[in-house]
Amino acid sequence: MRDAPSNTDIELRLLMEAIYLRYSYDFRDYAGASQKRRVLHALGQLECPTISELQARVLHDPEMFHRLLQYLTIPVSEMFRDPSFFLALRQQVVPRLATYASIKVWIAGCSTGEEVYSLAILLREEGLLDRALIYATDINPESLDKARQGIFPLESIRGHTKNYQKAGGKRAFSDYYTAAYNAAVFDKSLRENITFADHSLATDSVFSETQLVLCRNVLIYFNKQLQNRALGLFHESLSHRGILGLGSKESIDFSAYANHFDVLDRPERLFRKK
Ligand SMILES: C[S@@+](CC[C@H](N)C(=O)[O-])C[C@H]1O[C@@H](n2cnc3c(N)ncnc32)[C@H](O)[C@@H]1O
Repeated sequence: MRDAPSNTDIELRLLMEAIYLRYSYDFRDYAGASQKRRVLHALGQLECPTISELQARVLHDPEMFHRLLQYLTIPVSEMFRDPSFFLALRQQVVPRLATYASIKVWIAGCSTGEEVYSLAILLREEGLLDRALIYATDINPESLDKARQGIFPLESIRGHTKNYQKAGGKRAFSDYYTAAYNAAVFDKSLRENITFADHSLATDSVFSETQLVLCRNVLIYFNKQLQNRALGLFHESLSHRGILGLGSKESIDFSAYANHFDVLDRPERLFRKK
C-alpha cells in the first residue's frame, strides 16, 4: 500500500481544486514543494489557522483569493535580470532578429514588467523597437497593472542601472526614466509597441506567431507536465528558426521538446526552433 498523503498535502490539493473550480485559475500542476511553502507562508500573513480554513475563505470571498494570488504567483523581477542573458540577446539574437521586416516577441510570465521594459530598451538601442511588437503576458492582474504603468521604486534603480551596464547598455540608464518622488517613471514611448495581456500557460492557447519567446523564472514553478504544456505553446507560437530564451535556471533538456530545438547559447538557455 502506498503511503497516505499528509493532511497538509490533501488540504493543498483541495485548495487548488477549489480555486480552479471557483476562479478558473489552474495551479494544480505547479511544483508541490515550493507551492506548499508559499501557501504555508500565506497562512501566517492572512491569519488563517489551516489550509482548509483558507480554502473556505477563498471560496466565499474573491478579495481573499486575490490576496492569496499574490503569494501563489511570486511577483518578483528586476530590470536586466541576469545581465549576461541580455548581453547574449544583444550579441546573438539581435543580428538574427534584424533580418526580419517585422518582429513579434512574446514575454510569458512578465510579472510587473521589468523584463519587458529591459527588452524594449535593448531593442531601441539596436534600432529594432520600431518594427517590433511585444506581447507581455501574465496571470496576475495586479502585476500586469504595474507593468502597464512602468513606474518602479527609485530605490531599485541603482541595482537596475548596474544590470543595464553589465548587459552592454549603450547610454546612461537615466535617459529612460524621470525621477518623481520615490519612483522612476519610464519613458512612455518605450511601451508604444507593447501589449500587456492576461494569458495563462496552464489553460490558454497560442495567440500569435512570434520570432522570439522569452519565459524566464516561470517554468521552475511548474511540474513536468505543465512545463511540457508551456514549451508546447512556445514551440507552436515560434516561426521556423524562431528563438526561445529560458534563462540559466531552466531547460528543455528533459522535456518532450528537447529534440525540437537547437542550442544557440547553452549557459543562457537560448534555443532555436528546428
Ligand atoms: C518570478 S516571476 C518572473 C518574472 C520575469 N519573467 C523575470 O524573470 O524577472 C514569475 C511570473 O510567472 C507568472 N506566472 C505564474 N504562473 C503562470 C501561468 N500559468 N501563466 C503565465 N504566467 C504565470 C507569475 O504571475 C509571475 O509574475
